Amino acid sequence: MSARTILLVDDEPRLLETCKEALEGPSRAVLTAGDGAEALELLARGGVDLVISDLKMPRLSGMELMRRIAEQGLDADVIVLTGYGTVQNAVECLKLGAVDYLLKPFKIADLSSAVEDALRERGLRQEKGKVDQLVTMLNLQSVLSSQNDQRSMVKEFLNQVRGAFDPDGIALFFSRESLGRRRDIALGPFFRAEPQTREWFAALADRLLHQGRPKLLSAEALGRAMAGVAANPPASAMGVPVAGGGQATGAVVVLRGAGKPAYTGDDLHLLAIFASHASLCFESQRNCAMLKEINREILYSLASAVEAKDTYTRGHSERVGAYGVKLGRALSLTGREIDLLRMAGVLHDIGKIGVPDHILNKPAGLTAEEARVMRQHPGIGRTILSKVSALEGVLPIVTHHHERVNGRGYPDALAGEDIPFLARALCVVDSYEAMISNRAYHAARTPAEAARLLAEGAGSQWDAELVEVWLGVVGREPH
Ligand SMILES: [Fe+2]
Repeated sequence: MSARTILLVDDEPRLLETCKEALEGPSRAVLTAGDGAEALELLARGGVDLVISDLKMPRLSGMELMRRIAEQGLDADVIVLTGYGTVQNAVECLKLGAVDYLLKPFKIADLSSAVEDALRERGLRQEKGKVDQLVTMLNLQSVLSSQNDQRSMVKEFLNQVRGAFDPDGIALFFSRESLGRRRDIALGPFFRAEPQTREWFAALADRLLHQGRPKLLSAEALGRAMAGVAANPPASAMGVPVAGGGQATGAVVVLRGAGKPAYTGDDLHLLAIFASHASLCFESQRNCAMLKEINREILYSLASAVEAKDTYTRGHSERVGAYGVKLGRALSLTGREIDLLRMAGVLHDIGKIGVPDHILNKPAGLTAEEARVMRQHPGIGRTILSKVSALEGVLPIVTHHHERVNGRGYPDALAGEDIPFLARALCVVDSYEAMISNRAYHAARTPAEAARLLAEGAGSQWDAELVEVWLGVVGREPH
């Protein structure tokens, strides 16, 4: 067990001396105080594990001392010693959290064994506390990393903080540099009742962020610092910087009113661990978003390499991607499926990079041989994209975007539901986009003409239900 510190509080100097001598040891320091007030001063410095206190003392009684320990959230156990033992006193002491109660005169051996018991119990409780903290942290980590975007991550982070610290006010103040893009979040009665409280804590958060340090504020400190600012300052507060990088950089603040125990150094330590875990999650989410953006740029540059070959299809792929998203939303597909449609839209004709320019740009009908070469583009696209493992999901869509539901398409002449669903969906929007654009082989049609052609081919070339949904989408749009 680690070294322990005991604080003896009694107004009888001889008793203090005897007990100190008996309890002191190699891994046990003993401090003494002549009354409750002196004891409180020593307790405020921190590090005391066990207080052994008389009840009847000048200035501040033992009972009052216990009340202050509870109010200030000081983490010390108390054993009561008294020469005025009544049942009422004993009950009152236990209510205030005393772990044991000895009547004077007592045997030193009894005191020693009460101290042993109290310290052992405390050790067990602290061990359990560490395990609980670990479980809480693991939970936080897994809950945060399962969020898809920064907004829901921030929301979940505040939820977890609320669950662990039972605050009357909770806030996440973003760094002043990122304001304008992000709005501070401040919840609870203290922030609602007085806007000055919110401003005061926002300024504190900014200081903490620049100093990179956590801070614990007691009722006295808050009363002093907020005098003239807020009529009703909180009784306890702590704030910790959150360095999420970019827009997630800020500080989290929690407050408690007078009805609850004050936050302790241990609470501050735990909040700091919370914040550093959250920082890591915010940071990795941000990196992930950056990677996605880089991927998106690579996809677009690949697609534009194809379009550079085919003068008529400039912008086609990007528009097909955008149409794919619209159709996906109208079909209430998942975010992942909509993402796949967008990417497949951008990339579906990437295989045309392997089709000679004179075939791609030929204004009149293709010969049988030229058509055979042209029909290779889905397969070539598949070969190119299969090199990128992150694009695995788009492969079936790109491969089968020229299949027809009547089985007369290519490359595999699949029919009906054998054609992957997203490939059938992409086929509808790809055809629609091609119809309303100028092509080497036809002039642009009006949306109404395109809609009629799609309706005619529904059930033979295209999936009838998907055509119906798509016509619903374009029918609602202004032309
Ligand atoms: Fe195509």
